[in-house]
Amino acid sequence: MSRVAVLKGGSSLERQVSLRSGARVEDALGRLGHETLPIDVGDDLIERLREEEPEIAFVALHGRDGEDGTVQELLEIVGLPYTGSGILACMRSIDKVLAKHLFVEANIPTPEFFAFTEAAFKTLGAADTLPTIEQRLDFPIVVKPATGGSALGIKFAESASAVPGALVAGFSYDTRVLLERHVRGRDLAVSIVEGADGPEALPIVEAVPRDEDFYDFEARYEIGRTEFVCPASVPDAVTRRAQQLALDVYRVLGLYGFARVDLMLEEDSECLYVLEANAIPGLTETSLLPQAAEAAGIGFDELVERILELAWARAQGELAL
Ligand SMILES: Nc1ncnc2c1ncn2[C@@H]1O[C@H](COP(=O)(O)OP(=O)(O)O)[C@@H](O)[C@H]1O
Ligand SMILES: [Mg+2]
Repeated sequence: MSRVAVLKGGSSLERQVSLRSGARVEDALGRLGHETLPIDVGDDLIERLREEEPEIAFVALHGRDGEDGTVQELLEIVGLPYTGSGILACMRSIDKVLAKHLFVEANIPTPEFFAFTEAAFKTLGAADTLPTIEQRLDFPIVVKPATGGSALGIKFAESASAVPGALVAGFSYDTRVLLERHVRGRDLAVSIVEGADGPEALPIVEAVPRDEDFYDFEARYEIGRTEFVCPASVPDAVTRRAQQLALDVYRVLGLYGFARVDLMLEEDSECLYVLEANAIPGLTETSLLPQAAEAAGIGFDELVERILELAWARAQGELAL
């Protein structure tokens, strides 16, 4: 039994999802016999950790600060063991541009892309490169902020006239935006959890939007508007390849404990492309990683216990990382 601080909420755009992930983790920890200390992360974080002296932190934060290495750095400084990936892996996976460059270097297929900063757009004439980019990527072009999640700020530009508006929307989320080739096909997610034998890829979850329109933030969390199928009904060879790619991504980014990798299965070519990795995927009732774990026979409580044990193992130096 441990005294576990559950870090949740925070100020990121995914605050509400994090509150739900955190609440569910607290329930599980309670059932497992742990003492929980819920903390809605804010400027009193360090003070509260010092006062209440938890033995370990379960990081149930998503998005900025919680999933990008910021909170992990603070936990390292105060010497508190914590769940999930370390600082560097968080930094690599929150940043889609950096992650995609690492994928390319490691021969992991990812949709072709170009990225630039708002400064390049405003002061270096980056807008003049748009016709070249449009020719290379063809329409529709996916425009997304370099960091972010839950499809926030993502736009599909159907023609050249829609690109500037999509960029402006992207820049309202981040100072860097990427333009990516649109992959027409199926939306798959492979979650990974570490077990006794190392990282294990769980059954694929397919997100099937009910409407033809874009699978957006609201649709994702409004129960019933997106159907999740697990295990996804794809040929065995596709499952094996998707799982292998997810494990490759996990290794390349240096992730630890658990993670989720989002991919597209292109309809025409039947090729798989990795979109991104999430260092702290959602843990709510409707989230994909818990669904995949369930399908693999790992209940939510067992999942939470495993993630906690992995955090202890890292803190005790049992694993050479
Ligand atoms: N290049 C792309 N081609 C087709 N659909 C995409 C592409 N990029 C993103 N999407 C859609 O947007 C969703 C969210 O994109 P993703 O890159 O995973 O960002 P995040 O989940 O961090 O918002 C994907 O699950 C997919 O449905
Ligand atoms: Mg995603």
